[in-house]
Amino acid sequence: MITAYEITLAQAADAREIAELSRDAIERGLSWRWTERRVLRAIRSEETNVAIARRDGVLLGFGIMQYGDDEAHIVLFAVRAQQRRSGVGSALLAWLEATAAVAGMQAIRLEARIGNATAKAFYRRHGFSEYASSPGYYEDVEDAVRMVKRLAAEP
Ligand SMILES: CC(C)(COP(=O)(O)OP(=O)(O)OC[C@H]1O[C@@H](n2cnc3c(N)ncnc32)[C@H](O)[C@@H]1OP(=O)(O)O)[C@@H](O)C(=O)NCCC(=O)NCCS
Repeated sequence: MITAYEITLAQAADAREIAELSRDAIERGLSWRWTERRVLRAIRSEETNVAIARRDGVLLGFGIMQYGDDEAHIVLFAVRAQQRRSGVGSALLAWLEATAAVAGMQAIRLEARIGNATAKAFYRRHGFSEYASSPGYYEDVEDAVRMVKRLAAEP
């Protein structure tokens, strides 16, 4: 039977899997900065939401979003390779956007590797647009593209 996945806030016990998915899906070719300890700090931080999608106990994907005064910043976002292109990323992003809007955020910003055509297509599809690039952003290995989406004010 195919069961639906659930999107929830991460718990401390999720930190290791999230860190490993970050290492494998996002930080490849770079130092592993989002270690279990750092993810754990994000889970415990009041300025950060760590959202996960799980089905039958399996971590499908996650997103980490930090709050500023009036804008939020997606710092890390990935879906497990075998689960891509089935809407998990869209559902996670919608969850984060709704949460940011309820918190009164006016925009969400993020960076992606300039060569990451998949991420750029994904975020464009969800209303983000590119507004700048940051040379050498990823440990001088790769440039970043900066993207932003303005959020509609909550009624
Ligand atoms: C980017 C990523 C999170 C997308 O997650 P996903 O669950 O596959 O995304 P969805 O299935 O919700 O895709 C939604 C839409 O995004 C676009 N999209 C997603 N993957 C795409 C690809 N490989 N090529 C072109 N467009 C793509 C499409 O418009 C897609 O809609 P469609 O499938 O109806 O055509 C995922 O590919 C990933 O984890 N990549 C590695 C890590 C990464 O790059 N993270 C983001 C930068 S930190």
